This record gives sequence, structure tokens and C-alpha cells, in this order.
Amino acid sequence: MSRKKQTASRRGFLKVSAAAAAGAAVLPTAVHAGSSETIKVALIGCGGRGGGAALNVLHADPHVKITAVCDIFKDRAEHKLKELRGAQGGKHADRITATPDTIFSGFDGYKQAIDSGVDYVILATSPGFRPLHFAYAVEKNKHVFMEKPHAVDAAGVRSVIETAKKAEQKNLGVCGGYTYRYDLGKRETLKRVHDGAIGDILAVHTTYLTGDLWYRGKQADWSEMENQIRNWYYYTWLSGDFLVEQAIHNVDKAHWTMGDTLPVAAYGQGGRQVRTDEKWGNIWDNFSVVYEYANGARVFLQCRQTSGCQSQVMDHIIGSKGSAQLMQNRIEAKGGNWTYDGDPNLANAYDREHFELIQSIRAGKPMNDGIRSAMSTLMGILGREAAYTGKRITWKQIEQAKFSLAPKEYAWGPNPAAPVALPGKYKLV
Ligand SMILES: NC(=O)c1ccc[n+]([C@@H]2O[C@H](COP(=O)([O-])OP(=O)(O)OC[C@H]3O[C@@H](n4cnc5c(N)ncnc54)[C@H](O)[C@@H]3O)[C@@H](O)[C@H]2O)c1
Repeated sequence: MSRKKQTASRRGFLKVSAAAAAGAAVLPTAVHAGSSETIKVALIGCGGRGGGAALNVLHADPHVKITAVCDIFKDRAEHKLKELRGAQGGKHADRITATPDTIFSGFDGYKQAIDSGVDYVILATSPGFRPLHFAYAVEKNKHVFMEKPHAVDAAGVRSVIETAKKAEQKNLGVCGGYTYRYDLGKRETLKRVHDGAIGDILAVHTTYLTGDLWYRGKQADWSEMENQIRNWYYYTWLSGDFLVEQAIHNVDKAHWTMGDTLPVAAYGQGGRQVRTDEKWGNIWDNFSVVYEYANGARVFLQCRQTSGCQSQVMDHIIGSKGSAQLMQNRIEAKGGNWTYDGDPNLANAYDREHFELIQSIRAGKPMNDGIRSAMSTLMGILGREAAYTGKRITWKQIEQAKFSLAPKEYAWGPNPAAPVALPGKYKLV
């Protein structure tokens, strides 16, 4: 497919929610244009990455304060607040001003955190909640940094796109946490690739081969909903499965490498060979997916999460005149080899995500990469659904897919897990 046609296909997806976006109110300007006004931040999702992101936003701008924290579990919010105050020798403690009154918890805690007088929210819960939290934050006119991935199903992606469009109309900043996009070495490498250093891009071979991840145990007094939310990674409705949750960085790098054009279809395979016990919920432990592009190019993605096996995270870009290894920021081409040698101190991509978002807000022209980020998420979902079904799935099919993985209600109590997807039997709805 030509680039023009690919763009048309992307527009087709965006059209789904155009009517809703058209009705959104248009606010005059960014809330925090100007160089030194305090930006009050709420952290929603007080886990490993949420804590990291809170420090990143503090590093990014001296006039940021963390004024509210929220976790579905109160003890986690309280613990994170304490941890942040002590982090880096207590260096940022005076800018972490949340009080007992601005520690929120429970299923609706996110609303209270967003309504607590903040300007900017960090969304770092398990991704199943992202569309809901993002929609509420933008409805309440907040700038948003949201961790990847942004949804676990196509319905969630459509919601994220609709919200990103509303944010644009309201002149709000949105940054989707596809961290490698903020890595200066990767930017420079891909700029050169896109400028023709390796000729036409024929294929990307991308791998995410790692060991097992955490398991948080199961306690007798936990309801099944609590067990799933604590061990969220192993449940597709919360994580999207590990292709969508973790190998999604590889998917996003491939999306970026292909000039943010979209694949026309994907097919794949995989399963769970090692994580077979019920405690591992319903996700798989290996996937292999081929993404087809209209111009004949291909993205080959392999991911596996099994301890005791080879570890490798790689993005090998194969061109008509050479190749690039994106993780090493290296190009090998007929025209000469090149390796990025920029200042590594400038390349903390986690800080840079917030730095660029805040700079854009302060300049009165907030960045908004919500739609592009949502496309990376959907590309991951396409790969997962192709492997789950064992069939070739087109982009059009996935963008129109109706299924939703969300539970009937968000409440503590029973919540039977969906069965593990069986290729040949599992259907894309
Ligand atoms: N960009 C990156 O490199 C990177 C790295 C790690 C994690 N992440 C992303 O960050 C997100 C969180 O991952 P993590 O490793 O911090 O997980 P985590 O389990 O350590 O933290 C998630 C926290 O969210 C809380 N939570 C869950 N549902 C909630 C809800 N409805 N309301 C409020 N709090 C809720 C949990 O109790 C938990 O404390 C994921 O989307 C993950 O993909 C990104």
C-alpha cells in the first residue's frame, strides 16, 4: 500500500470517534503557559514505574510539586509517598507536598486525585484502567503523562483516540510513555535511517527475549478481583498479555522505524509452554508475529518470557543498502558505518518525556502524541489477536473489533478469568 493509502486507513480508524470529539469544548489556552508557574502533579498508580515517573517529573522542572498520590491500595500510596520523600537522599522532599488528605485509594480514587486541584497527572496503573483514567483526566482539563500501553483492546484504543482528540481541542498536553521515542541516540539513528542511510527499509527483525517476571502471591482473604489486580500482569484484561504490555516497546520502535505507517495485516503464533499453572492467569509466554506492510516490507517480532533461555532485546533494521541495530544506535552501510556518540547524560529518556511535555506546556503549545501512541498499542493488540486466533488479521479488522476485555463491574469480589486463548478456537469479535 502506498503511504497515501496507509494514511487513509489511519484516518478510517480516527473517523470512528470524530463525532464525539467534535462536540468537545474548546478551551482558550494551555493552563500553564509561562516559565515558572508551579505545576501540581497527581501520581495515579504507585508502583515501580509510577514512583520512577514521579522522580522523572521532579527532575524535569524545578517548579513541579507532587501534591496528590493515588493507588487502588491505600498502603501502596502511603508507602510510595514515604519512599519518594526519602529518595535520592531526600533531595526532592520539599516538593512532595501531598498530605494525608491528598492520598487517595479505591476504584474511584483516581477521580478524587484528579479533582484535588492538580494540573498534570501521571497515569501509571496497570494498563486495563488507562482509557478510563485518561478520559476523566482530560474531561477535567488536566495535562497527562500516561505510561504505555494505553489500552488492552480495540474498544480501549478507540476511547484513547477520542480522548486524545478532545485533549487537542482543549490545548492540553499528552505524552504516551513510549520511552525510546525520547532517547536521543535512537532519534538520531532513525533520523539517519529515514534520511536514506541504509536505503529502503525492507524488514525489521525485533526481539524481546527475557526471563520470568514477578509474582505477588495469593492470600486467602483476597477476593479473585484483588488477586487479579495485585497480579495484574498475568490477566489480559489488565495487561493485554505480555506482547501488548512489555514487547510493546519493540512494536513501537518498529512502528517508528516504518515512519509511523501502519501494517496492513499480521499473522502469528505462540502459546504458554512454561507458565502453565493457574497462578499465571491467562497470558501466554511466547509470541512470534509477522506484520505485513503494503510496500512489501515486513516486521518480524519474536518475544518470549522464560527464565533459563537466551536473553536478547534487539531491533535489527534491514535496508537495501545496509542495516542498523537500533538498540546499539549503530548503522552499517555501504556509505560508511556510524555509531551515535552523543552525551549519555543528555539521554535519560524517562526524564526527557516529562521535560518535553512540560516545555511544550510552558510554551503554550502542548505536545500531544496520544493518537500515534494509541496506534502503537493497537499494533500490539493486532499481533496478539493474530496469534490468539491463529489467523491473518487485517488492520481494518482490528480497528473495527468490538470485543472488550473489561469486567462487568469494577468491584471487589469474584471475577472469573477468561480462558487461555487457544488458536483455531479463539475468535476475534
Ligand atoms: N516505559 C517503561 O519503560 C515502563 C517500565 C515499567 C512499567 N511501565 C508501565 O507502567 C505501568 C505500571 O507498571 P509497574 O511496573 O509500575 O506496575 P506496578 O504493579 O509496580 O504498579 C502499578 C500500581 O498501580 C496500582 N493500581 C492498579 N489499578 C489501579 C487503579 N484502578 N487505580 C489506582 N491504582 C491502581 C497497583 O496497586 C500498583 O501499585 C504499566 O503500564 C507498565 O507497562 C513502563
